[in-house]
This record gives sequence, structure tokens and C-alpha cells, in this order.
Amino acid sequence: MKFFLDTANLEEIRKAKEWGLLDGVTTNPTLVSKEDMPFQGLVTEILRLVDGPVSLEVVSEHAQGMISEARELNKLGENVVIKIPLTPEGLKAVKILAQEGIKTNVTLCFSPTQALLAAKAGADYISPFIGRLDDISSYGMRLVEDIKDIYGNYGFETQIIVASIRHPMHVLEAALIGADIATMPFPVLEKLFHHPLTDIGIQRFLRDWEKVKARI
Ligand code: E4P
Repeated sequence: MKFFLDTANLEEIRKAKEWGLLDGVTTNPTLVSKEDMPFQGLVTEILRLVDGPVSLEVVSEHAQGMISEARELNKLGENVVIKIPLTPEGLKAVKILAQEGIKTNVTLCFSPTQALLAAKAGADYISPFIGRLDDISSYGMRLVEDIKDIYGNYGFETQIIVASIRHPMHVLEAALIGADIATMPFPVLEKLFHHPLTDIGIQRFLRDWEKVKARI
């Protein structure tokens, strides 16, 4: 399972990279808006830091505009993936970009049939938004299960990025289902490390080592 960070924050990206846990990054306009840096400089630095796919989102609403944006963004680095919303215009753009060899991540997916459309259009990645479904009392992870079944039935190669992750249980469930990728906010990645018994265990070992040291 690959771990992506859902962030545009350079410090978070550096830390996850140092831990050896960074397989890629997903950004969106909201995440980029939180960083106090010009867009071009920020994105160039993210692309340089990350040894893996980096999703950059288009903001045009019509296919032609999305395609023009995608072509420009794609020039910024070999690891660029173009994030495109799941609309008829978006999937029109995905089909054309796929023919040009430009990689796409179809975002804002909330139903299995939407995911089917994205795969048929030739998307490299699909991003079901789990947390936002949970927020409206829908079982978000069921969507990931359904997409996995559908893609398996037909041998689609579109990879599933579990997105809108809110807590470690989402990562656990995604892993149990066998999703290809989980993209998570940095605090969720940090929480994956934590277990009180690990902390207690370390304290006990260190305390006991003091007794050994006294005999050295
Ligand atoms: C996915 O690629 C999106 O950037 C992200 O996961 C959205 O998450 P949110 O619902 O926390 O905004």
C-alpha cells in the first residue's frame, strides 16, 4: 500500500520523506491556499522534494480549459499527475490527456458508478472521498469496497487513492480492503505511529537498562 500526503505544506512533506514513508503527494486548491507562497514556486519545490506522483488540480470547468491547464502543469515535472473533477467535461479531458500520455487523478468521486466512468475514460487514479461521505452519514469505506470489486471484475488498471481521510481507522480499513493508495493529512500519518504500550515498553526497557549499566 502506498502512502501519499494530502498537503501542500513543504515542512510536512520533508518530515514524511525523512521517515521514508512518502510515496507521493496530493494537493487541491484549498490546500494550496493555506500556504503563503506563490503557486509556481511552491509547486516546483513540492515536485523536487517528492520521489513519486504529485497531483495538481485544474480549476477550469470546461474540457478545453482543463486540457490547456493540464498541458502547462505537466511541463513542471515528470512526476506531475493532473487532478480533474468527476464531471462530463472532466472525463472528456481525461480521455484526451490519456491519449497524450498525461497522467490523471479523477477527484471528487462519491459513487461507484462515477468511479466506473473514470476508469472507462482512462484515468490513472480515482479518488473516492471517504471522510466527506462519512460527514453526511454515508458509509464512505463501502465506496472503496465497491470500486475495488468493479475494477477487479473488468481488470481496470486505474489505481484507487482513498482520499478525504480523517483518522487512522480510515487507513486501517483502506488497507484491509486492499486499496492501492491512502492519501492522508500529516497529523493522521503521525498518529499511525502512536501506541501507549509502545511508550510504556520503551520507558520500562530504559529503566531496566539503568540497572544493567550499574553493573557494567
Ligand atoms: C484528495 O485528493 C483531496 O485533496 C482530499 O483528500 C480532500 O479531503 P478533505 O475532505 O479533508 O478536504
